[in-house]
Amino acid sequence: MPGAFDPELTIPEHIAVIMDGNGRWAKSRGKARNEGHREGAKSVEAILEACGDIGVKYLTLYAFSSENWKRPRSEVDGLMGLLTHFLKAKTSSLIQNNIRLRVIGAIEMLPESSRKQLQKTIDATAANDGLTLYVALSYGSREEIVRAARTLMDKSARGEMNSGELTVENFGQFLYTADCPDPDLLIRTSGEFRISNFLLWQISYSEIYITDVYWPDFRRPHLEEAIGDYQRRHRRYGGL
Ligand code: IPE
Ligand code: IPE
Ligand code: MG
Repeated sequence: MPGAFDPELTIPEHIAVIMDGNGRWAKSRGKARNEGHREGAKSVEAILEACGDIGVKYLTLYAFSSENWKRPRSEVDGLMGLLTHFLKAKTSSLIQNNIRLRVIGAIEMLPESSRKQLQKTIDATAANDGLTLYVALSYGSREEIVRAARTLMDKSARGEMNSGELTVENFGQFLYTADCPDPDLLIRTSGEFRISNFLLWQISYSEIYITDVYWPDFRRPHLEEAIGDYQRRHRRYGGL
C-alpha cells in the first residue's frame, strides 16, 4: 500500500502532538467534555506504547496550553485531576516500559497536588533511557521565548554574556526544550490547521501532519499512517 508505515524506512526521532478534539468527540456522543478528556488519556497510553515499539526517541504531547486556563473552572479542574490520577496510576508502567517523563511549561501555575505527583513521576523515571515523554502543561511558546529573552537580558546585565555571543544554535539552550532535538513530525488531530502557540521556535523545519480524527479516536493505526506519510516526504531545509 503506498504511504503505509514501513519499519525499514526512517523513523522520526521526535514526534510532537497537538492532542485536539476531546470536546468534539464527547459532543458527538452526547457526553460531557471531561469524558472526552478521559477517553483521550487512553489514546495517550496507546500512543506511548506504539512509540516505544516503533523506536521513536522523543514524544511531546501538548496537554494544556497557557490559554486553556480561560476554560470553565470545572473543565480545568477536571483536566488537572485527570493528569494527577493518570500519573499516579501509570508511573509503574512508565518505569516498566523504560519511559522517562519530563515536563515543559509554566509548571508553577499548576495546583500543588499535580506538581507533587509530576515531580514524583519525573524522579521515578529519571534513569530510564528508552522513550522520553515531554508533557507540555500550562505551555505557551510565546511565553517560553519571552522567558528565554528575560534570562538572557539578566545574564547580560550581570556581564555574564554579551549580545554577540547569542546565536541561532545556542538560543535553544534557553528554552524549556534545551535537552531535546527539534520535532521531526508534528501531528494535530481533529482537523484544525493552526499551531495554537505550540513550539513556535522548535517546529521551524518539522513536517506537519493534520488528521480529522479526534484525539480520543487516535490510536496506533493512525500514528502509523502519520509516520508512513512522513516517511515519503523529502525534507530539503531550504536546499535542493
Ligand atoms: C484538546 O481537546 C484537549 C485540550 C485542549 C486540553 P479540546 O478540549 O480542545 O477539544 P475540542 O477542540 O473542544 O474538540
Ligand atoms: C491546543 O488546543 C492546546 C492543546 C491541545 C492542549 P486548543 O483546543 O486549546 O486550541 P484552539 O483553541 O483550537 O486554538
Ligand atoms: Mg480544541
